[in-house]
Amino acid sequence: MYGSDSASEDLERTAFRKAEKKYKLYYQDTYRTPKKKKQPKPVDLSEVLDFKSILISHNQNAELPSGIAPVRCGLDRPVFSIENRPGFYFIPGALTIEQQCQWIKESLTSFPQPPNRTNHNAFYGSINDLFIAAKERKILVAKENSNSECNPSVSNRDVQGWKFFEEHETSSKGNSRKSISASVLLRKLRWSTLGLQFEWSKRNYDVSLPHKKIPDTLCQLAKKLAAPAMPSSEDFQPEAAIVNYFGLGDMLGGHLDDMEADWSKPIVSMSLGCKAIFLLGGKLREDPPLAMFLRSGDVVLMAGEARECFHGVPRIFTDTENAEIVPLEQQFSHEDDSSFLEYIQTSRININIRQVF
Ligand code: OGA
Ligand code: MN
Repeated sequence: MYGSDSASEDLERTAFRKAEKKYKLYYQDTYRTPKKKKQPKPVDLSEVLDFKSILISHNQNAELPSGIAPVRCGLDRPVFSIENRPGFYFIPGALTIEQQCQWIKESLTSFPQPPNRTNHNAFYGSINDLFIAAKERKILVAKENSNSECNPSVSNRDVQGWKFFEEHETSSKGNSRKSISASVLLRKLRWSTLGLQFEWSKRNYDVSLPHKKIPDTLCQLAKKLAAPAMPSSEDFQPEAAIVNYFGLGDMLGGHLDDMEADWSKPIVSMSLGCKAIFLLGGKLREDPPLAMFLRSGDVVLMAGEARECFHGVPRIFTDTENAEIVPLEQQFSHEDDSSFLEYIQTSRININIRQVF
């Protein structure tokens, strides 16, 4: 090969990248037979900070691990900070089980609705009611130019748009048209944006893009949760939110969120569904990151100096023992909620709320 990619080799060597590799999902390379399910490689979780057990010992007036301090603030539950990470706050179990269910439902039904954008926009344009379509086993089919009808080699240029059809309708049409099932699209939903729309290609907010405001109840909740990271006289103004959807094996690579004008304002980041590992690095990728568990209902705040720290999510856990979603499963046990239950048993959702200006 021509000169191996030295930039990516350098990247491999950073402490952040090493930690990502340590926690990322790999499968055992045992010989795969059709009957044997792929087994994840075991991972050493002994160095992962666990704020659930920190909260339990704090509530029993026991000692906190060195470097972890309780934060005095107006919130009705304990908030912790980390000694050498100023501006970072962890609120274990900040959301009630009802709030978790509510925001999981909204994240799947209303947040991805146009004019809000999702990762599917670039290829498919606006998609309405994806979650319902997946539940009803619908198929998204390309509307093609009439002269490309029945031509199996149509390119995306010939596609005029996409429309959902019932399964039986598509089989009667023959299979010459491009199509994809709604359930695969739902599985491949990676993000949606609320409020001011973030333009990923330009890495910036495009205020001219049409958008719906962040729902008022979510704004009020974010304002309340942001309080520990806000100067006492100021109010947090939620203007944009990014919703991330993770399935098994998905990760969010190390990054900074530096496109907002005022870094003194926190990012309020809520975890829903399966447990994940969060890496909080320093200002350089070379700084070794701290690993911590994020469970459904946990909230983290990143403000001030923490806004300049690399962070990411290298792993989510969907197995019963590690996912830790039993209360959610109970809450979603009603038949009407079976499609939410099915989704969340193998997924994690993160809603992070920002003040842009
Ligand atoms: C982000 C982010 C963290 C998470 O979307 O910028 O850092 O917990 N998300 O998913
Ligand atoms: Mn981020």
